[in-house]
Amino acid sequence: MERLDKIISVSMGVTRSRAKQLIRSAQVKVGAEIVTDPSVKAAPEQVSCSERQVVYKKHIYIMMNKPAGVVSASEDARERTVTDLVPEKLYRKGLFPAGRLDKDTLGFVLLTDDGDFAHRILSPKNHILKTYEAVLDKPVGEREIQRFKDGVILGDGSRCLSALLEVAPDNARRVRIKICEGKYHQIKRMFAAQGVYVEELRRTAMGALALDGALAPGECRELSEDELSLILKK
Ligand code: URA
Repeated sequence: MERLDKIISVSMGVTRSRAKQLIRSAQVKVGAEIVTDPSVKAAPEQVSCSERQVVYKKHIYIMMNKPAGVVSASEDARERTVTDLVPEKLYRKGLFPAGRLDKDTLGFVLLTDDGDFAHRILSPKNHILKTYEAVLDKPVGEREIQRFKDGVILGDGSRCLSALLEVAPDNARRVRIKICEGKYHQIKRMFAAQGVYVEELRRTAMGALALDGALAPGECRELSEDELSLILKK
């Protein structure tokens, strides 16, 4: 059971205040009965608005192309956050980024209000690969590829799980990395352990789902069911 104004706003993609207006103007029914109190709780499948059944999704999943200078958090007292960039029609209470990117890292951030899904994609046990592209301050090669494969030992002595490092054939400072865990500053620290500095970092895919190239930095869109299953695909 959910509040009627929440059901209408989420399922019809309208703001909470517009949902309240629709309810107060007697356009919403629960079963056969018109209900004009937005705070009434109802089962989503029984709700209709102006005679059409509303399609209520319990959770929302959003792909964002994160720009630099924005923090991966739900809220922050001083800094602009990824949730601040979500337009009102997609915004929901409880939205959070499933996996953090550093303030200067760009690319794919998944925002959701589904804690179980976030746990599934982030837990290293599930081996969902996150793909990054980086520009380094110096060239790397076979030695670093092998070290990433064996599991890099970070400056604090902890060992990373095996990771895939690919070097661009025409420029050994440009690399692609695939990791299935998300330690703090992990990629920067993996390269720092090789004496290499990461100049630019971008997440380009989660699981088998690539960042939509049509999203400009700061833009986002809702994901389809098929896209969600691509994230879970190993
Ligand atoms: N690794 C990093 O070092 N930074 C990120 O933002 C993501 C992965």
